[in-house]
Amino acid sequence: MSDAAAMTADEREFQFTDRDFAFLRQIAYEHTGITLGDTKRQMVYGRLARRIRQLGLDSFAAYCQRIENDLDSELGELVNAITTNLTSFFRENHHFEHLTDTALPEIVAHNAGARRLRVWSAGCSTGEEPYSIAMTLAESGQLSGWDARILATDIDTNVVAKARSGVYGDERIQDIAPQRLRRWFQRGGGANAGKARVAQPLRDMISFRQLNLLGPWPMQGPFDVIFCRNVVIYFDKETQRKLFARYADLLAPHGYLYIGHSETLFKISEQFRLIGGTIYKKV
Ligand SMILES: C[S@@+](CC[C@H](N)C(=O)[O-])C[C@H]1O[C@@H](n2cnc3c(N)ncnc32)[C@H](O)[C@@H]1O
Repeated sequence: MSDAAAMTADEREFQFTDRDFAFLRQIAYEHTGITLGDTKRQMVYGRLARRIRQLGLDSFAAYCQRIENDLDSELGELVNAITTNLTSFFRENHHFEHLTDTALPEIVAHNAGARRLRVWSAGCSTGEEPYSIAMTLAESGQLSGWDARILATDIDTNVVAKARSGVYGDERIQDIAPQRLRRWFQRGGGANAGKARVAQPLRDMISFRQLNLLGPWPMQGPFDVIFCRNVVIYFDKETQRKLFARYADLLAPHGYLYIGHSETLFKISEQFRLIGGTIYKKV
């Protein structure tokens, strides 16, 4: 198909050729691990058109040229534009039930001497996942006097900033049980009406950091629990293989790994064994 024929009505504002798409998907893959299949072409157009407008450019070719000239200054914006950040509080709730009923009692018994617990929310998006973990830990009643901390990381600087603020619109928290809402959220007034902020004790448990899972990791571990849910779905098998090998190195022998509902370690890693419900333990 010619470049012109490949364009649809939505692509009229800026010319977006096959060559532009190939260039952008290659940059995205190299720097984030995210594979942008042909079905993502419209998504890429929509998200980057905004940026092209902002920069006062007149085509995708001009945008690609800008990246070619100075990748470092644009990479962050490009990455923020192409990530998919869909998330919610207590998403895939069976993981939080497992954490309370099975993982925590085991970890508490195991770490009773050090009274230390470390959880990593890898690919935390706008923070709903790490705050759900924090609520689960705080409500468990098993960690009083413990040094319990959560590391929450994402490649996208916009979502990390949003997560760190801990402020959510009413529509984001409407499915949280009323008792939990009362305990862990402060409703805003005046200019902040219709929003709520996560309570300070939960915010104090979490360190938010921008981190590319493909790059170097500054933390030493070990982690007792790693959540990496709905992140590797965008990665190819080789990228997944390398990532899970690194998780195995950083997870404590008694630790648990939670992955997303449509993800699997089958034929990806033999360092983990499936417990059930996308919950894994190290072999
Ligand atoms: C769909 S969200 C999942 C959020 C949360 N874990 C959940 O399950 O609700 C996927 C997140 O992975 C992040 N991500 C994608 N590639 C990444 C990479 N190479 N390093 C770190 N985070 C990445 C995206 O920015 C996005 O916020």
